[in-house]
Amino acid sequence: MYHLWPPSRVLHLLPPEKAHNAALRLLQFSPFRLRPPALPVRSAGIEVANPVGLAAGFDRHGEVVRGALGLGFGFVEIGGVTPKPQPGNPQPRLFRLAADRAIVNRMGFYSHGAAAVAGRLERYRDRGGRGTVGVNLAKNKASEDAARDYAAVARAVAGLADFVTVNVSSPNTPGLRALQTEGELRRIVERVRKAAPSGTALWVKLCPDLDRAHRMALGQALAAMPVEGVVISNTTVSRPAGLRSPERGEQGGLSGPPLKALATEALRDIRAATDGRIDLIGVGGIGNAEDALERIEAGASLVQFNTALIYGGSLLPYRIARDLARSMEAARRTEPVAPVPAFPSVAPQ
Ligand SMILES: Cc1cc2nc3c(=O)[nH]c(=O)nc-3n(C[C@H](O)[C@H](O)[C@H](O)COP(=O)(O)O)c2cc1C
Repeated sequence: MYHLWPPSRVLHLLPPEKAHNAALRLLQFSPFRLRPPALPVRSAGIEVANPVGLAAGFDRHGEVVRGALGLGFGFVEIGGVTPKPQPGNPQPRLFRLAADRAIVNRMGFYSHGAAAVAGRLERYRDRGGRGTVGVNLAKNKASEDAARDYAAVARAVAGLADFVTVNVSSPNTPGLRALQTEGELRRIVERVRKAAPSGTALWVKLCPDLDRAHRMALGQALAAMPVEGVVISNTTVSRPAGLRSPERGEQGGLSGPPLKALATEALRDIRAATDGRIDLIGVGGIGNAEDALERIEAGASLVQFNTALIYGGSLLPYRIARDLARSMEAARRTEPVAPVPAFPSVAPQ
């Protein structure tokens, strides 16, 4: 298989975090500007050339925005970004479950901090970068006011980011997932909405481990808030049956194919709860165009992935976006033509 940078096989000879850092360095200097066939979408408060995005956690510090967009992504989400820099959890904190093509991570928001990331984003924009870029908002581990932290990061990237995502769903920061209640989210959304300029879309990202009643209640509550998109889902702390890799016992959030069924089910529930009143971004275990299409059929208008890039190589974003455009075009062509009404329809008064 042809790859633009050393095949994942080679990178996978390094320990996971070193391999990731090497991939980032290569991507920083990547000359590629791949353009998949256009599949323009306007949804969740953003406008993109194609609906396939890079999920949070890959470009944590905003170092490879141009390189990632050049692989064919329609949009990228950088972060999680905390207000102050913080080192995250002790290493090792990233584990390959190679036999499952999955990852377990317990990074714990390793972040260069809002000022450094905003500086990089500003340089990207100053050099004419017009790609669709979002920032995943996170909180410092020691902070006791999550809403203040999310708002601080949103303020730091004001005018630079097209969307910001309130991340209340990473499993590696104590207490974070407990913010997935109507009351907490209302407070956070209000603070972030005030901090972000009016043109910036606001998304909320949920975890896949809530029970159905909790999901439905949150979906209904979010549909009534000034939020443009709900992202489903983050990693899972569950360990679905059938995992083969010995690293499955590591503590942290699981991503990749074993998350797919759970993330799709969670998306369907949120879709049912919100009933089209809010746009949905599907993420979790997407690794090809069929997965992306399935997620769109389940209610998403945009999709993202992260783990598949680690296993599938750098051509994957282009391929998924291209194959998705082809499938959508084929589906459009075979759609039955609407029957011509027997009588001229009456225009609404
Ligand atoms: C190493 C790693 C770090 C991540 N960091 C974040 C993060 O900071 N914020 C966030 O919202 N999601 C984070 N995620 C979750 C991803 O954005 C995504 O929701 C999840 O991995 C499922 O998608 P995937 O199966 O395509 O990887 C991270 C995932 C991985 C693998």
